[in-house]
Amino acid sequence: MDVLGIESSCDETATAVVRDGRKVLSNIVFSQQDLHGVFRGIVPEIASRAHLEKINEVLALALKRAPRFDAIAVTAGPGLIGSLLVGKMAAEALAWVAGVPLTGVNHLEAHLFANLLEDRGLKPPFIGLVVSGGHTDLVEVLDFGRYRVLGRTRDDAAGECFDKAANLLGLGYPGGPAIDRLSAKGDPLTVDFPRPYLEGSWDFSFSGLKTAVAYYMKTPGKKARKADICASFQASVVDVLVSKTLLAARRFGRKNISIGGGVAANSALRKRFVEESEKRGLNIHLPSKRLCTDNAAMIAALGYHRLKAGRTGVAVDPSLPIQNWN
Ligand code: KG4
Ligand code: ZN
Repeated sequence: MDVLGIESSCDETATAVVRDGRKVLSNIVFSQQDLHGVFRGIVPEIASRAHLEKINEVLALALKRAPRFDAIAVTAGPGLIGSLLVGKMAAEALAWVAGVPLTGVNHLEAHLFANLLEDRGLKPPFIGLVVSGGHTDLVEVLDFGRYRVLGRTRDDAAGECFDKAANLLGLGYPGGPAIDRLSAKGDPLTVDFPRPYLEGSWDFSFSGLKTAVAYYMKTPGKKARKADICASFQASVVDVLVSKTLLAARRFGRKNISIGGGVAANSALRKRFVEESEKRGLNIHLPSKRLCTDNAAMIAALGYHRLKAGRTGVAVDPSLPIQNWN
């Protein structure tokens, strides 16, 4: 079954055609980053207008490479309401004209399964970690559509923390890639930033770390090189994410771990996950960087499994939680 995926929940307008939830036939992403950079964050009104302007073009590009499809999957949430509605309207119109079924997909669940597109070794059950600009969720994935959410962030998401720290360091938006690049030239042992482990809970909390960076920047005389501050900050985020995820794998007896979301593109996070998993005999599954950040191939991939389970229809919800549907 060839599924056309449509993603417009945040600041990427994306389309893709994926065969049987595995094989990517086309994958188009238009990023609005340049439009939002000057505001140092996403402006919802600008985002929905830009989706509206681009959606037909990215649909045409995806269908030029892979002209036929049997069904459509569109992101139903979580995300910005105006942006989600652009995707839903396009998907509904196209499904009606083409006479094919349509399903709404949870964006976070799709990040958890992005690995399916490249990694034949991955299937549930596994421990999943979604680390994106808006979410940090640790999940036990029992099957397609069967989840146990173990923990999530109590305040800032991991990506949000990268973006805010980058802002404090004058590195522009989005900050994650900039901190990643600069950290490669820095020493992570320079500044001893806090590690918010929240022992006894699977939740995360990153707002204190951001405040620690803000205080550090204001403290007279404490001026390490920017690259060293970046590397130290990044090491703190990586330590917390890696150690809690590996602990969950051990506690729940899962050998496979799947990471997704924009922060999964972070070089230090990827390296540590590989090293630490190897030491413990665990299998770490990391999508290529292109499939970590927002894309429609992951929406089409999970949409295929929803359609197979008979789930059709789209109810857009900006706060859509990860929930069972199977
Ligand atoms: O999953 P995503 O593309 O969009 C959301 O669903 O939010 O994630 C975007 C987030 C941003 O906060 C961005 O700074 C972060 O992912 N990010 C990174 C890297 N690339 C993107 N964070 C750290 N290192 C990176 N290389
Ligand atoms: Zn995302």
